[in-house]
Amino acid sequence: MELLRSGMVLLLLQVLQLCVLGASGKSDQQWLNIQRSISRAVEEYTPCSPVNCSCHLSVLQDDLRPFQGGVSEKLMASTVRRGVGTHYQIIGHKLYRESNCMFPARCSGVEHFILQVIDRLADMEMVINVRDYPQAPGWVQPTFPVLSFSKTADYQDIMYPAWTFWEGGPAVWPIYPTGLGRWDLMRDDLERSSAQWPWKNKDPKGFFRGSRTSAERDPLILLSRENPELVDAEYTKNQAWKSERDTLGRPPAKEIPLVDHCKYKYLFNFRGVAASFRLKHLFLCGSLVFHVGDEWHEFFYGQLRPWVHYVPLRQDLADVRELLQFVKHHDAIAQDIALRGRQFILEHLKMEDVSCYWEQLLSQFGRLLQYRPQRNTSYAQISPRASRTEL
Ligand SMILES: *[C@@H]1O[C@H](CO)[C@@H](O)[C@H](O)[C@H]1NC(C)=O
Ligand SMILES: *[C@@H]1O[C@H](CO)[C@@H](O)[C@H](O)[C@H]1NC(C)=O
Repeated sequence: MELLRSGMVLLLLQVLQLCVLGASGKSDQQWLNIQRSISRAVEEYTPCSPVNCSCHLSVLQDDLRPFQGGVSEKLMASTVRRGVGTHYQIIGHKLYRESNCMFPARCSGVEHFILQVIDRLADMEMVINVRDYPQAPGWVQPTFPVLSFSKTADYQDIMYPAWTFWEGGPAVWPIYPTGLGRWDLMRDDLERSSAQWPWKNKDPKGFFRGSRTSAERDPLILLSRENPELVDAEYTKNQAWKSERDTLGRPPAKEIPLVDHCKYKYLFNFRGVAASFRLKHLFLCGSLVFHVGDEWHEFFYGQLRPWVHYVPLRQDLADVRELLQFVKHHDAIAQDIALRGRQFILEHLKMEDVSCYWEQLLSQFGRLLQYRPQRNTSYAQISPRASRTEL
């Protein structure tokens, strides 16, 4: 009996000891795991060539794969009839469009890029979806050839560089009243701001301002309320804002222009309705990007690698506190990731890369058409317009 009792006490002591060790040991182990993930990702990564947007072309090959057998006139006609996007035709190096476009500024942003390369394009036609959401779910057969700016692995849409590289991005009052656009000018602005905020002068804090597009962002806002030293994250208003309920029980915060995000070391990117346009901007601050979830893609996401260019976060943000603590304690590692992320966008997402991708996409898609498109005479010609100079 006595033996049994002392044996139990001993066992209990061992269990307790294991628990204590486990608690501190777990965090050390987790940090080691994070460090290993980073080293492994960096070792395995080979930077791609900055020539002729070749870095991104494997995405185009993947997107066009379902159509390798060619696109018939019948398939195109039924895609047009389904109304999954706006029907465009290129005939004799001129651009024609059906009158319908749900978001004129978005169509105009898309047309800017098509008109830039139209002299080098053969006759063709295509359906371009300017809504946020992709339109060709993988389970629908046959696959409809429709161009969309963003998709998940569940969709077979062919991705194109979004209108917002030129114009028609989300309007954010009062900072971007006409909608985010002019990526080339934006790049210059962010470059200047990042020069004003070198890494060592940045506030070592997470930062986020955005509207409550979805409750997915809530854990970050709540973490900020609990631990404002670790992260400063607040909800702003959007058009749907009705009461403080829409900003999680607090008055809406002021909108902060993207250039002012550069003051902070750690920036967050969440998806919007589909992919978020913000991601590319955040990198240029030279801050470390925390990218939430990995479902939604734009054409250039494929070459952006977790741990090499950004810190991947789980969609439910369960790992956000741990990862923020990790980067605060591993400043040199954090800075290296930030540098690589910025370098990638500087080298591989120039305005030329965007135009180049559009040209590759349209030339390759055009070659898949098995017929010669006839101009629909009820369509109006789209002509180049004076260029916009605001962001
Ligand atoms: C890039 O494109 C240009 C123009 O199409 C071409 O002349 C050049 O050979 C290409 N360079 C490479 C490395 O593919
Ligand atoms: C031309 O476009 C109009 C309007 O979208 C449509 O009703 C008509 O069927 C089209 N014609 C052809 C030949 O496709």
